[in-house]
Amino acid sequence: MTSQRPGAILVGASSGIGAALADELARRGYQVALVARRAPELETVAARLNASAPGAARVYAHDVRDYDAAPALFARICADLDGAPLTLLVYASGAMPTGDSGGWPFADEREMIETNLIGAMRWLALGAEVFARQGRGTLVGVSSVAGDRGRNGNSAYMASKAGLSAYLESLRYRLARRGVRVVTIKPGFVATAMISGKKPPRPLVISAEQAAKRIAEVSARGPEVVYVPGRWRAIMAIVRALPPFVMKRLSL
Ligand SMILES: NC(=O)c1ccc[n+]([C@@H]2O[C@H](COP(=O)([O-])OP(=O)(O)OC[C@H]3O[C@@H](n4cnc5c(N)ncnc54)[C@H](OP(=O)(O)O)[C@@H]3O)[C@@H](O)[C@H]2O)c1
Repeated sequence: MTSQRPGAILVGASSGIGAALADELARRGYQVALVARRAPELETVAARLNASAPGAARVYAHDVRDYDAAPALFARICADLDGAPLTLLVYASGAMPTGDSGGWPFADEREMIETNLIGAMRWLALGAEVFARQGRGTLVGVSSVAGDRGRNGNSAYMASKAGLSAYLESLRYRLARRGVRVVTIKPGFVATAMISGKKPPRPLVISAEQAAKRIAEVSARGPEVVYVPGRWRAIMAIVRALPPFVMKRLSL
């Protein structure tokens, strides 16, 4: 790898928004550590990045629920940067195994909390420690509009994203005077495998590439709580303002 390229860790890089974001980050000059469970998918992303910018990507197969393995992997990634500074950590891993199909499947609910929230806490805290010490760096968490309010739907997914949004907000205030930027991304509907079983209204759906472009932009500068695309800020303001008796009647 060329040590001039600053380092970025991208957790959840094997598909969807994360895979598209890997391209954006490589294009913006980062060497990117690609983290997720599916090594073949990560290798495909890395081959694409390295073909256009040799040394732009490395692959690290990892399950974010293997919490005890994260510190050693984080240290290995930093060592592999070969003197280049780590300046960005993006946590995009997420699971929604049950969709909105109802029921109370505890194993699925646990997977969502463990992947979307606890795994995020593990990786974001590792980044926070290094960034606070070096006095610079950006942490990005891909949360969701689903975390803005409990609704009639996938309760555990909403709880995981509400927890992640709160965790990121707290990190932002803790790290504000340490030169660290903390960005919360709240996508609406993005056309990825995660929502393949859903049929959201077409005008509300964007591509993974569109989402990734916006995430890369705000990772560099701009607002720190970002709805993707921006119209979700107004939509969720309306949803948050609805009284409980209306929420009880809605199926959203
Ligand atoms: N699509 C949407 O409409 C939407 C809306 C709002 C927010 N989001 C959020 O956006 C993020 C990316 O999702 P996506 O839409 O791009 O879906 P996706 O294509 O299913 O991507 C999910 C990513 O999470 C990784 N992941 C899942 N479980 C993991 C585990 N145990 N360990 C490590 N990595 C794991 C997956 O990699 P492996 O399977 O290879 O491990 C994959 O890279 C998620 O946090 C999701 O909640 C999506």
